[in-house]
This record gives sequence, structure tokens and C-alpha cells, in this order.
Amino acid sequence: MQNPEDSEQSVADEQEQLLAEFEEMVATDALQRAGDTFLRRSAGLVDRFLSTGELNLADDPFKGRDRQLAEDSEIFYTMFWRLFDRTPAALLQDFAIKLRRILARKVFKQVGNDVTIHHDVLFSSGRNITLGDGVFINRRVMLDDRGPLTIGDHSMLAAGVTVETHAHVFDDFTRPMPRGGRLMKPVVIGAECLIGYNAVVMAGTTIGRRAIVAASSVVTKDVDDYHVVGGVPAKPIKVIAPE
Ligand SMILES: CC(C)(COP(=O)(O)OP(=O)(O)OC[C@H]1O[C@@H](n2cnc3c(N)ncnc32)[C@H](O)[C@@H]1OP(=O)(O)O)[C@@H](O)C(=O)NCCC(=O)NCCS
Repeated sequence: MQNPEDSEQSVADEQEQLLAEFEEMVATDALQRAGDTFLRRSAGLVDRFLSTGELNLADDPFKGRDRQLAEDSEIFYTMFWRLFDRTPAALLQDFAIKLRRILARKVFKQVGNDVTIHHDVLFSSGRNITLGDGVFINRRVMLDDRGPLTIGDHSMLAAGVTVETHAHVFDDFTRPMPRGGRLMKPVVIGAECLIGYNAVVMAGTTIGRRAIVAASSVVTKDVDDYHVVGGVPAKPIKVIAPE
């Protein structure tokens, strides 16, 4: 273990270095320029949308100056999405749901028809999310899509649900835990499932067709078709299947 005094010194050094970098950025306008470019593009997108209803970025918003960002244009739509959710217009439920449908098509990997996405839904990049037709995602849902995430037709995620598609390496004792690395593990939620309020779906699990996850449960293993599971960890409660 590090001597506490050395550790305090290294935190102080790090803070001093960060402050120096920050002062340099402020003194040279670098911070403002970087923020301006990004915000101008996002604000332009919001303005154009509100005045004309158009929601498309120019093919190359940076005019060749930053190819990578231009190619990753979905980041602007994600930014727009987060900004929009903080405006009064987001309270116009029908309008907001239609707008998020358009945004989801721009940001997610694949999106079916008639999806409903409510307020304050967060995701990592969106690039690994596949949604079927009629998927319903309630407010404050957190979708980690570092690994692939698929949600089948007409499945519902209740408010506060978290889905994780990555886990951490716990047994590499040569590195501190946060640097041990990540394991990407896909999650598949089948068609017509109900994932109850505040449930957590852990990385690598598959939830079968028309399964129900009880409120506040933690799904650590696969769930069979038509099964109701609940608890921490979630265990089968009953089966609700057609005759
Ligand atoms: C799982 C659920 C569907 C079960 O409802 P139900 O069919 O009426 O079943 P019951 O209330 O009779 O409960 C059956 C058993 O499951 C247990 N159970 C119910 N909810 C549970 C939960 N959230 N976590 C753990 N166990 C639960 C009950 O204690 C009972 O156990 P017992 O048989 O040992 O007494 C319901 O409790 C639930 O969580 N629904 C999700 C609600 C939701 O999030 N809706 C979102 C709408 S967008």
C-alpha cells in the first residue's frame, strides 16, 4: 500500500497540474473554442428544428476540420436529445415521444415502428441498441450499450430500470480494480416482456418471451419464456403461459 503522505502529495500534484492546464486553456481561449464549436453545432440543430422542423446535420458540420466528430454525428443528436429533455417542450408528451422516435432512429443501431421512449432515458452511445416494434421505455431508464443490447417487439421497461451489458474483471490482481478491464456481455430481452420498476438486468443475461421481472429485482441469470421472476437475485415465482 502507498504511504498516505505520498498519496496526499500525488493528489495535490495532480490537482495543481489540472489547475495549471485549466488556467492555460482559459488564458488561451482553447476551452471556449472547443466548447463553442460543439455547442454552436448542437444549438444550431435545436434552432433549425424549432423554426423549420428539420432535424438533419449538414453532411460535414466541421467543414473538414474534424472528420472524426463529423463522422460520429450521432453525438450531436444525443446531445440534442439530452438538451430537449430539459426543455418545457419535453412536457408535451405526444410531441416529445414522436421526436425521440426520430432521434432514436438516428442514434440507435436499429429501431422498429411505434417505439415509445419517455423522459430522461440514458444510454452509453446508442450504437449497440436494437429495439423491436412497439417497445416501451419509461422515464429514468438507463441502458448501458457498451455491449449489444436487444429489446424484442412490444416489451416494456418500467421507470428506473437499469440494463447492464458490461462487467468488470475482478481477478486481475496486477492492477487496481478500476483498471482491470471490462467484459462486454450482450443482453437480449425477448418479445412482450415486462421489466418492473427499478429492476436491474445484469450483463450477459437473456430474458425469454413474455417473461415478467418483478419490481426492484436483480436478474443475474437467464429467464425462461413466460416465467415471472423476482427478488435479489431474481428467482422464478410462477409461470404465466397460454394453455
Ligand atoms: C411480479 C408481479 C407481477 C407479481 O404479481 P402477482 O402475479 O400479483 O403475484 P403476487 O403479488 O401474488 O406475488 C406472488 C409471489 O411473488 C412475490 N413477489 C411479488 N412481487 C415481488 C417483487 N417485486 N420482488 C420479489 N418477490 C415478489 C410475492 O411475495 C409472492 O411470493 P409468495 O408466493 O412467496 O408469497 C408484481 O409483484 C410486480 O412486481 N409487477 C411489476 C409492476 C411494475 O413494475 N409495473 C410497471 C408498469 S409500467
